[in-house]
Amino acid sequence: MTTYRICLLPGDGIGPDITAEAVKVLGAVSGRFGHEFTYTEALIGGAAIDATGDPLPGETLAACEASDAVLLGAIGGPKWDTTDPAGVRPEQGLLGIRKALGLYANLRPVRIFDALIDGSTVKAEVIRGVDIMIVRELTGGIYFGERGRVGDMAFDTETYHGFEVERIVRKACELARARGTSNVCSVDKANVLESSRLWRETAHRAVAQYPDIELWDLLVDNCAMQLVKNPRQFDVVVTSNMFGDILSDEASMLSGSLGMLASASLGDGPGLYEPSHGSAPKYTGMDVANPIATVLSAALMLRYSFGLEAEASAIEAAIERVLDDGFRTKDIRQDGCELVGTSRMGDLVAERV
Ligand code: IPM
Ligand code: MG
Repeated sequence: MTTYRICLLPGDGIGPDITAEAVKVLGAVSGRFGHEFTYTEALIGGAAIDATGDPLPGETLAACEASDAVLLGAIGGPKWDTTDPAGVRPEQGLLGIRKALGLYANLRPVRIFDALIDGSTVKAEVIRGVDIMIVRELTGGIYFGERGRVGDMAFDTETYHGFEVERIVRKACELARARGTSNVCSVDKANVLESSRLWRETAHRAVAQYPDIELWDLLVDNCAMQLVKNPRQFDVVVTSNMFGDILSDEASMLSGSLGMLASASLGDGPGLYEPSHGSAPKYTGMDVANPIATVLSAALMLRYSFGLEAEASAIEAAIERVLDDGFRTKDIRQDGCELVGTSRMGDLVAERV
């Protein structure tokens, strides 16, 4: 029996509710496939600020580094919101851990479950069969550039080095190969931004080593429009930190809810897995949040960190069955379906695993 050590960072708001369901489903996986998952829990975000004053305590980082993978819930909430430039924010914990673990590649798969097709705000005929992998650069760009205030003026800086662009584009090409596609779309704003012109130039240089890949460029505003106009034209989409943040929220709505969008953040050490949505503070502890994005993130952990493909697929298939069987959380509710809470949704998925 193989043992996998997982560091759990439940975080704030609905974070603890949804991570508990992922652990439940992993329990079902270990029961069926005979692996052992062990957990260490640590603080991050607002919860860590409250306990220690630091959104990313050293102990948390050490616990993550000592694990095989990290599963994170969500961070943030109105309690810790501040516009004070010197203020401590929960988000610093998340950005800090991404940077500290070198998680430069953020994978956000957008796929449409058949059962939810009519639940999307976008027409069924437009989204049927959509299967997109958004590859977001996660440790560079404007998120980590120089920023500050000078009197009544504030600035943030978009900075990219060639090596950062090159490694994320290579990652996108590898993923495209694994998905059996040659279609990689690189999104930038090269008609305006110098950093985007470097991005574009570097992307094409990097892809020259992948003769089987066809890289095409798209300006980010056009991409935002094309994602709702004709999302099936996309397969792998690679883009910068900020553009990926925005486009992935947009793309998630093709699937009906941000509550369905999982993510994997990969570097050279332990990977970090988290839903793409926030902490939904108003639903904290109310048993209404959709745990599916977190459970799907746990599936990505099995696939990308542990190489357990059959186990990952078993979770994905179980979710598909739950949806086919007509169970819905509030965010994806549909007429004629049974409304269930966070914990029941976790039970239903675990049973089907
Ligand atoms: C995400 C989130 C984060 C981000 C926030 C919470 C800092 O929106 O993971 O997409 O902007 O990266
Ligand atoms: Mg976001």
